[in-house]
Amino acid sequence: MSDDKFSLDQIREHWTRQAMEHGQSPAASWSDVNVIEMEIREILQYLAEGERVLDVGCGTGYSTLQFAAQRRIAIRGLDLIPEMIAEARARLRNVVTGLPGTVDFGVGDITGLNEPDSTYDKVVVIRAIINLGDWPRQRQGLGECVRVLKPGGLLLLSEATLQGWRQLNTFRREWNLPEIPVPPFNRYLDQEEVCSAVAPGLELVKLVDFASTYYVGTRVLKPLLARALGATVDVANPEMEWNRWFAQLPAVGNYGTQKLFVFRKA
Ligand SMILES: C[S@@+](CC[C@H](N)C(=O)[O-])C[C@H]1O[C@@H](n2cnc3c(N)ncnc32)[C@H](O)[C@@H]1O
Repeated sequence: MSDDKFSLDQIREHWTRQAMEHGQSPAASWSDVNVIEMEIREILQYLAEGERVLDVGCGTGYSTLQFAAQRRIAIRGLDLIPEMIAEARARLRNVVTGLPGTVDFGVGDITGLNEPDSTYDKVVVIRAIINLGDWPRQRQGLGECVRVLKPGGLLLLSEATLQGWRQLNTFRREWNLPEIPVPPFNRYLDQEEVCSAVAPGLELVKLVDFASTYYVGTRVLKPLLARALGATVDVANPEMEWNRWFAQLPAVGNYGTQKLFVFRKA
């Protein structure tokens, strides 16, 4: 892994810039919009009518509003970056048809949530913990999510894992493709470390490698084909039929960097 990691200030600057450059495009969160859509599809399966849901590290609220549009829930989105929340509020103001439930957005830090204990039926965290710089802060963020969850509630954590990243790079190495580096503003999670940090309060119900096939298609097969043809490709390009098609295939294997942990609070 690269040692050129960003400081917390640099991480904050990175996300502020993303909000200002991309506004309400989902690219404010990540250029690989197909994985964002897959995450939404997966997480929606666990959200039920009438629930209180917290979406921490919600960015500009792209996923938050999709959850709110498809379930009658009371959802609150929180993000560290005021510019992200300004975009999320603008997005909410632009919703023309009535949402079945309620939505609100606020500035908040996952490592110190200004929310009472045992409040939410579901806590959703999508690619936020990997942005906390080091493991002590990541553990603190996870602890806060556990604290605000009701007993019996679910923590739906979609994050990049070291195990998935290594497995994907093993596949690439077989074909002499270079290792994909971890971005300097991220610290990927060790699956074992996460599970033991939240135990015994949280039980792992499921670890879903929902994007494994998509990662093989776009991070192994696509660059190989490009190399054979002498072409240059953007592996994450959401406008390519290649990416759209792979995003629709059932997930097979354990090659997805991004995985969904489903934890239940005792
Ligand atoms: C990869 S984006 C994900 C955004 C959103 N969850 C989504 O799925 O589109 C990571 C988000 O985490 C936010 N973030 C970083 N550190 C945070 C913290 N300490 N507390 C809350 N949010 C944080 C960033 O501002 C950014 O919006």
